[in-house]
Amino acid sequence: MDAFRAFLNQHDEPAWDGVLADLEPSLHPVDREATRIWFGFWPLKLRRLLRETTDEAATAQEYLLDGRYRLEHQLDESVDFLYGSIYWDRVKEALLQRSESASEQTLEGLGSEIRKLADGVAARLKVEASLLLGISAVGFMAFQQVGAPPFRNGSASGPSRTRRPKPGKILKQRARTTSQGLFGFLRTVNRRFTVRFDESKRDATFSCIEGQDLSSASAGDERDYKTRDHRCIAGPIPAECRVASCGYCWIGVLSGRENIIEVSAHERRRLNYFGYLDSSSHDETHPVIRLACQSKCYGDVTVVVPPWNGSLDGRR
Ligand code: FES
Repeated sequence: MDAFRAFLNQHDEPAWDGVLADLEPSLHPVDREATRIWFGFWPLKLRRLLRETTDEAATAQEYLLDGRYRLEHQLDESVDFLYGSIYWDRVKEALLQRSESASEQTLEGLGSEIRKLADGVAARLKVEASLLLGISAVGFMAFQQVGAPPFRNGSASGPSRTRRPKPGKILKQRARTTSQGLFGFLRTVNRRFTVRFDESKRDATFSCIEGQDLSSASAGDERDYKTRDHRCIAGPIPAECRVASCGYCWIGVLSGRENIIEVSAHERRRLNYFGYLDSSSHDETHPVIRLACQSKCYGDVTVVVPPWNGSLDGRR
């Protein structure tokens, strides 16, 4: 194994948690939640499981894996919800170069390596380094998990990756609240909010009645999502049980976390059972990862839907 990959492989979950906690204050707000969500969607424990298995079908059955759970099959797509994805090709290029030039003597701590790479790409592109930090951290973790080959394939530079509003505009849009009409301030029941599930698409929204859970609200969106993802039987958020039993409906909350009801002891237990919660979420009243069927909504939110689900911790 080359020096770079060997260096990355020295970092387990606690080591990465420390690095991310240290980087977080320096991340641009536009990608602060998104970075946490990406790390939540692609945990090292999933990779370990897939690396160690000799019978993938049996492992998938044992850990109830469903959907597209292999990062190497969707590396570029996996970063689409980060603003920093517009720099993804450059980050991949820089990572490949670093992996080729690195030796035991030149490698510094993981946090410094991430910062150095982000600073270098930002300087070349003449943009704020804080915009590159999240996507660079994602790049290092992805490289640790899948190695160089998927990094060598050219990205599909779809419109979502090349054309994005400025970060300030995105933050403003996330802070906007749905108008309740001319006399909306008089309305005390049946207020409606907007749930956005793909920031890069204008029509990727559905509406939610005050106090309704995001899973039921998603089911009200009757467009076809099943062709793209077989788990989406009704609406863009996969669901099966609607009582926190199956783990299909997990989501990352990109904005409006405070507009969702506090996580209950039951939901937290189930999130832990599925292995979806990261270590920094354990004491949070509004964690970044939620179960949509338990998430009663009281304002506008933006969410991200992961391409897979499973039960990584509960089955052990
Ligand atoms: S739909 Fe089964 S856990 Fe939410």
